[in-house]
Amino acid sequence: MANYKVVSLFSGAGGLDLGFCQMGFEILWANDFNQDAVLTYTKNIGSEIVFGDITKIKSSAIPDNPDVILGGFPCQGFSIANNKRGMHDERNFLYKELLRVVKDKQPKIFIGENVKGLLSMEKGQVLQMIKEDFQKIGYHVGYQLINTADYGVPQNRERIILYGNKIGIKSSLNLQKNSNKISTKEAIGFLSDTWITNNSISINGRMIYNHIASINVHDKFFVRQNPPKQSDICDYLKAWRDAAKISTKKIDEIFGYAHTAGHWFRKDNNSGSIPTPDDWWKLKKILNFDDKFDLQVTELELKQIKFEQSLRITNWDTPSDTITATQPEIHTNKKRRLSVRECAILQTSPDDFIFTGSLNSMYRQIGNAVPPLLAKQIATIVLNWLGCYGLN
Ligand SMILES: C[S@@+](CC[C@H](N)C(=O)[O-])C[C@H]1O[C@@H](n2cnc3c(N)ncnc32)[C@H](O)[C@@H]1O
Repeated sequence: MANYKVVSLFSGAGGLDLGFCQMGFEILWANDFNQDAVLTYTKNIGSEIVFGDITKIKSSAIPDNPDVILGGFPCQGFSIANNKRGMHDERNFLYKELLRVVKDKQPKIFIGENVKGLLSMEKGQVLQMIKEDFQKIGYHVGYQLINTADYGVPQNRERIILYGNKIGIKSSLNLQKNSNKISTKEAIGFLSDTWITNNSISINGRMIYNHIASINVHDKFFVRQNPPKQSDICDYLKAWRDAAKISTKKIDEIFGYAHTAGHWFRKDNNSGSIPTPDDWWKLKKILNFDDKFDLQVTELELKQIKFEQSLRITNWDTPSDTITATQPEIHTNKKRRLSVRECAILQTSPDDFIFTGSLNSMYRQIGNAVPPLLAKQIATIVLNWLGCYGLN
């Protein structure tokens, strides 16, 4: 097999890169500015990854003549979940780094990946702008919206795959759908009864690492029995504070808070807050207010909330919902969130791919990744294209 060379930007823990390695591509150089992701990448893929901010790395520091450049440029600014998405978010312009490196290194093919929100952002203008920018530097550009559940990944994850070439390939990426969808249960059911552990464990001959999880799962909360109106409390406390001639700064000093007390005296109904019972009694000693709201503010009761209504529980008999970069969904056993390994399996990371960093950092690296199984299918098509080019 020809030894095609890859430069990888925004490599993260290396989901996209792993798929290319599995198809025989050689990573010449990779980059990320997240220390934990770089460490995970180094341990599992190789030491070609360089830690640093790509906006500060000159093209001359990046190896010449890659056949392929990969770049899953960051997606926060493009995400539908982000209300501030728009052309003005500077993170949206990180694709310009991919553009710069593609322009300077002239790979035969480049591949980018992004969230579905890119399609609709600024009514499609952002995607159009990106396409045109790559066309201007001589690339034939296309994109495909895919749901990873259609490609053998046990997870619904809608993503845009952006691709371009300058070797005369006119066909589209055309990833072939798999008719069988894999359920969450099929993928991670074997770990359901295994209590989380920092140690590696062997289950049915499978070595399992990183089976750790957030166990902060509660279905009971303290709530006020008879909640007062927030604006009533804010106005009331402000009147008593004015009468006592004490500034919020002074109250912050007494409480040892940075800027918290200001919220208790806010007039506007949106940004104020009601003190906790402990803070209320402490505040009463300082401001000497009457008993008017004491019961309403301080009498709490323990309430059970319905899991299904208020907390996200993972799908079980269908592919999972998208594994995101934040706290994952709750396991159907309701004892914990999905473990790092369960998330990794739902992302199709191999069992021996071990993540490094804090729990949240591992969740983030996994949630950010392209599922390696999908990456491998993309790499297969790229390999084909490069092979066709070699025959011309
Ligand atoms: C969506 S993730 C890419 C995941 C990767 N393609 C994978 O499959 O694992 C985007 C990555 O870009 C990195 N990143 C964001 N801004 C960067 C910058 N200015 N320089 C280098 N890396 C950056 C983040 O740390 C994150 O790991």
